[in-house]
Amino acid sequence: HKSLVIGLFGFGVVGEGLYKVLNQTPSLKATIKKVCIKNAGKPRQAPAELFTTARDVLLNDPEINVIVEVIDDSVAAFEIVKTAFKNGKHVVSASKKMIAEHLEELLQLQQETGQSFLYESSACASIPVIRNLEEYYDNDLLHSIRAIVNGSTNYILTKMFEDKLSYRDALIQAQQLGFAESNPKLDVEGYDAVNKWTFLLTHAYGIITNPLELLFTGIQNVNAFDAQVAGEKGRVIRLVAQAKKLGNGKVAAAVLPQFITQDDHLSFVRNEYNGVVIESGFADKQFFYGKGAGSFPTASAVLSDISALRYDYKYEYKKLYHHTPLELTNDFYLRV
Ligand code: HSE
Repeated sequence: HKSLVIGLFGFGVVGEGLYKVLNQTPSLKATIKKVCIKNAGKPRQAPAELFTTARDVLLNDPEINVIVEVIDDSVAAFEIVKTAFKNGKHVVSASKKMIAEHLEELLQLQQETGQSFLYESSACASIPVIRNLEEYYDNDLLHSIRAIVNGSTNYILTKMFEDKLSYRDALIQAQQLGFAESNPKLDVEGYDAVNKWTFLLTHAYGIITNPLELLFTGIQNVNAFDAQVAGEKGRVIRLVAQAKKLGNGKVAAAVLPQFITQDDHLSFVRNEYNGVVIESGFADKQFFYGKGAGSFPTASAVLSDISALRYDYKYEYKKLYHHTPLELTNDFYLRV
């Protein structure tokens, strides 16, 4: 099969994880030729000649046929991805904020250039949620999705309410373990979850929207009183992203903390794990579960995208192009 020569942008939690994972999977025949980093001074556990700070070294190298972009800066990521497409390279990305904010334009570029654009790692890390939504369900059959899509907030909620850690200590642990965004406000205030939810709605229902169009809040207002109420009622608190098809052809979607019952599958999702509960025609209820943050679980999803490039896999956005797109509404429903 095809040989894949990778130009990697970013060598943080995900980039370094991918480097190690690729070294352990030689059968894939995918090699990293060059890594572009921002700060040349940092010590790194890889040969110095692998690194450069010049984007063009990767983007203009004709031998590099895949750009893997796992950087933290969504503005720079967008520029890199656009140039990569124009230069005829496939793109694998983990930049959920960039994807959420620019999906429409990225889709157009992908269509024009015929390149693959894969980003399985950008939501729920190790759970193959995008491919599942993309391929498995007709949107007429997809009744609802409820999911935990942010590992850091789930880690914090678990540590605060089960292990009685303070919010601060729980957050510090989530940062040390490499789960949190470099600006943890993105996790805690729900931005990261709503970013992921934005493009998961595209793959689920063909809806293209903007994160700020969705109703969302994070766990910033969850307090000890809420924990007490949850305890008394035998519930647990989770930050739940949800979408439900309404009878009127619209989809209600929101990201909100909720009290959930202990027989709810999402209550089994603890620490940095993520979970997705789908209800659809014929299949009935399904539950997907796996690590939603961290170096190797995220790198595993990047690896699966790289592997899928060998057989020219592309998201087809079938629901967007072949169905009447459903309309989004902010009417949400609460389950207490
Ligand atoms: N900060 C993100 C999270 C990383 O905690 O889920 C994975 O996208």
